[in-house]
Amino acid sequence: MRLSTVLLAAGSGTRMKSSTPKVLHTIFNKPLIQYVVESIRQFNPENNIVVISPDSDLVKNALIDYPVTFAVQKKRLGTGDALKAATAKLKGFNGTILVLCGDTPLVCTATLKNLLRLHKSKREDISLISFIAEGPHAYGRIIRKNNRVEAIIEDKDAGPEQKRIREVNGGIYAIESHLLKLLKEIKINGKKGEYYLTDLVDIAVRKGYRVGAHILGNEAELTGINTRRELHNAGNHIRNRIIEGLMENGVSFIDTASAYIHPESKIGMDTIIYPNVYIDGKTSIGKNCSIYPNTRVIASVIGDNVIVKDSTVIEHSTIKDKAVIGPFAHIRPGSVIGPSSKIGNFVEIKKTIIGANTKASHLSYLGDAEIGENVNIGAGTITCNYDGKTKHKTIIEDNSFIGSDTQLVAPVRVSRGAYVGAGSTITKDVPPLSLAISRAEQKHIHNWATKKMNEQKAKHKKK
Ligand code: UD1
Ligand code: CA
Repeated sequence: MRLSTVLLAAGSGTRMKSSTPKVLHTIFNKPLIQYVVESIRQFNPENNIVVISPDSDLVKNALIDYPVTFAVQKKRLGTGDALKAATAKLKGFNGTILVLCGDTPLVCTATLKNLLRLHKSKREDISLISFIAEGPHAYGRIIRKNNRVEAIIEDKDAGPEQKRIREVNGGIYAIESHLLKLLKEIKINGKKGEYYLTDLVDIAVRKGYRVGAHILGNEAELTGINTRRELHNAGNHIRNRIIEGLMENGVSFIDTASAYIHPESKIGMDTIIYPNVYIDGKTSIGKNCSIYPNTRVIASVIGDNVIVKDSTVIEHSTIKDKAVIGPFAHIRPGSVIGPSSKIGNFVEIKKTIIGANTKASHLSYLGDAEIGENVNIGAGTITCNYDGKTKHKTIIEDNSFIGSDTQLVAPVRVSRGAYVGAGSTITKDVPPLSLAISRAEQKHIHNWATKKMNEQKAKHKKK
């Protein structure tokens, strides 16, 4: 079957009450239009046309990495006019055109495949997906006579009887290219001043073409997003779908209602996700990890058997196998935490590479640093990486020991096996296997406290 696709995305989305075009509203930070484009990716259509309005550079940008071409609908004159705008790009194409709306992001590829299969096997000229809608809604109603589709009546134009029809139009059509010529027969709708693509059904039926409406999906999957409420519901639906899929693959959730896993994130078997966890972007989490409550991981790679304790943020970083992070740790972009290493309470790591078995257990800032294996970073250690103008590097080699409350004034290097005494300010490179200590020597002033007490007593007596 020769196939082209057309996505209608030129609408303004008035009902969203937003200055952002509707198809750029996001679920999990991902614009709705990207979900739709991805749903047809498997088909490898000959033409993949997205219909946009003239002021849609933002929509174009959102699809920059996708193999699509754009057709411009000059004025927003309705879905019928939008498809017409794509026809110039379809000249010479002879086959099936799959038409989708940019505001129906939940549709599954399998459902689209079913439509195309039925379209072909029933040799229909137009096939569309319908579904049964609950409650009040604004979808076009499917009008049937003797079970055959006759027309689609939009909500605004439906009489009370027709409004009671629950079978509605999903806005997804397979149309044979020779029917495109009928688009010009669509008349403008008086009430809305638009050309309705849905009128093509009635026109085709009257001319004796074969038209079929197929109930192929449910309301959750085929919901059109026109309002913020529908956006919210659709977001919940995708979220649940992702979590269900992960549970099927062996991931445990303590509270599915408060876990957010981005569609592009991956999680391995036997990993446990605790409540209030947000896994964002292209994150990959390995097997047998525990991600404790109130944690956010963004576009990071986490190995196997990693423990991320409560209230930790990990951004654009790599955490190797068996590492333990948190509680209250912040791993900032460009960091690598080596295998079996430990980053503890209130430790901030930025653009820092840490080797295996290294520990920074409490209250430290490690930025622009390279830290080797088996290093112990004492509580309160700080890399002074910024001189007000530029950032400088700190290097701490394998097996070294940094005493508590050390300031490492970069650029500086602590060579292998060296010790730094607690409370030191290190401004010069430390040679291997040595002890560096820079604090003032401790001295004792004997009876200082006794003298002070006596002075105070004397003052008191005078008064
Ligand atoms: C449309 C259908 C309705 C169906 C519903 C399914 C029509 C007339 N009605 O209604 O039967 O039940 O979808 O969700 O087709 N668009 C353009 N240019 C325009 C107008 C719209 O490109 O001038 C695009 C929009 O960006 C959107 C899609 O077409 O992606 C659908 O438009 P929308 O206004 O949302 O149609 P509905 O009223 O939801
Ligand atoms: Ca819609």
